[in-house]
Amino acid sequence: MSSIIEDELLSSTIIKKPLALDFDYVPDELVHRDEQLKFLAQMFKPLLSNVSQNVVIKGPVGTGKTVIAKKFCNSITNISRKQGKIIEYVHINCRKRSTDSMALLGILNHFDSRFPDRGFSVQEMIQVLGKQLLKRNAQLLVVLDEADALLKKSGSNLIYNLTRFSDESSMQKIPVSILLISQKDILPMLDSASLSTFKRSNVLSLDKYTRDELYGIVKQRVNLAFHRRTVDDSSIDLIADIASDWGDARFAIEILWKAGISADHQHTQVVTPEHVRAAKADTYSVVTETKLKNLERHQLFTLYSIAKRLKKDQTAYVNTGDAEKTYAVTCEQYNEKPRTHTMFWNYIKEIEAAGFINIKLSGKGHLGTTQLISLPDIPAEIVSNKVEELLK
Ligand SMILES: Nc1ncnc2c1ncn2[C@@H]1O[C@H](COP(=O)(O)OP(=O)(O)OP(=O)(O)O)[C@@H](O)[C@H]1O
Ligand SMILES: [Mg+2]
Repeated sequence: MSSIIEDELLSSTIIKKPLALDFDYVPDELVHRDEQLKFLAQMFKPLLSNVSQNVVIKGPVGTGKTVIAKKFCNSITNISRKQGKIIEYVHINCRKRSTDSMALLGILNHFDSRFPDRGFSVQEMIQVLGKQLLKRNAQLLVVLDEADALLKKSGSNLIYNLTRFSDESSMQKIPVSILLISQKDILPMLDSASLSTFKRSNVLSLDKYTRDELYGIVKQRVNLAFHRRTVDDSSIDLIADIASDWGDARFAIEILWKAGISADHQHTQVVTPEHVRAAKADTYSVVTETKLKNLERHQLFTLYSIAKRLKKDQTAYVNTGDAEKTYAVTCEQYNEKPRTHTMFWNYIKEIEAAGFINIKLSGKGHLGTTQLISLPDIPAEIVSNKVEELLK
């Protein structure tokens, strides 16, 4: 109901259904993800016979991990209901709920929105969860989205407890299935006891979207969200081109949305490539700035050194040795003591995890364990300027 009101309030002569451009919106059809949905169906088939399964989805930013999980889990829940079986599906964002008790509270809120947010230990909450499931004669399918945040902060206790759930409730077996989602390879972060319940083959790996796939995704959103003939085909082409450097569907949809808004503000009837270019410039700076602000000082020094080196040498890669030398110079420049080699290496790993750099092993002609660093997404010039500003 509220979505009807929202659409009416926010719609315009160009955008007919703003909700369809929202990041949480799940379209009826996922473009170019049939094989992947089929894979999930194969993996989770045992749930229909009350046997739990654990699966991992991994892939870079904006490759549809969250939306495919939502789509699939809603479907299997509906299908099993038709067979008289209840699957309770709960989607937890571990970036927002990064401790065991916060994640568990999120699961319990699915059953009882007024469950008190303090006063219960993790063990007690697990018992309450067991009772809720028994009462409903239901099994649980819990998605731990961005699970690396939970694992990093709280380890794999919760995952261990959930995978062993059947053992806990002595009399009756309650199947609890877990779907872990992460950009990074997450299995190495699990302790060996939890790891043993995840099969290596139960991993769905999503690739970056190709240009043509992005074209399809944007085209779908144009049809869903815009009035007829308000978006030039060449605009869709351009968005697909731009976003293909990242392979990121969210970025593509964000550009479409911003281009639509800016066409609207100018009271033109059509979204043109010029609107797309303006939207790109806008999106670009926001993405990098918000991400940069999350970095700590020495991580910024490290990133800055890499960018400076790449700009100066006009190359695609800098090796870690050279980067560390420049890092030492940078620290000096800002009157700070350079940290140890191990710390430096941690910074490199962290800014890689945040998506700023790529690291690969050097090819022939290089000695030992040298690694090569590149800036895949952002021009070195932009990075060094922005970091300079932040360090001021
Ligand atoms: N195959 C697809 N068809 C239609 N829309 C898609 C498809 N893949 C992704 N999208 C849309 O692109 C946006 C990003 O997708 P999603 O949030 O699932 O990415 P993600 O892989 O979870 O990214 P992150 O790692 O940042 O969490 C969402 O708005 C989603 O609806
Ligand atoms: Mg996601």
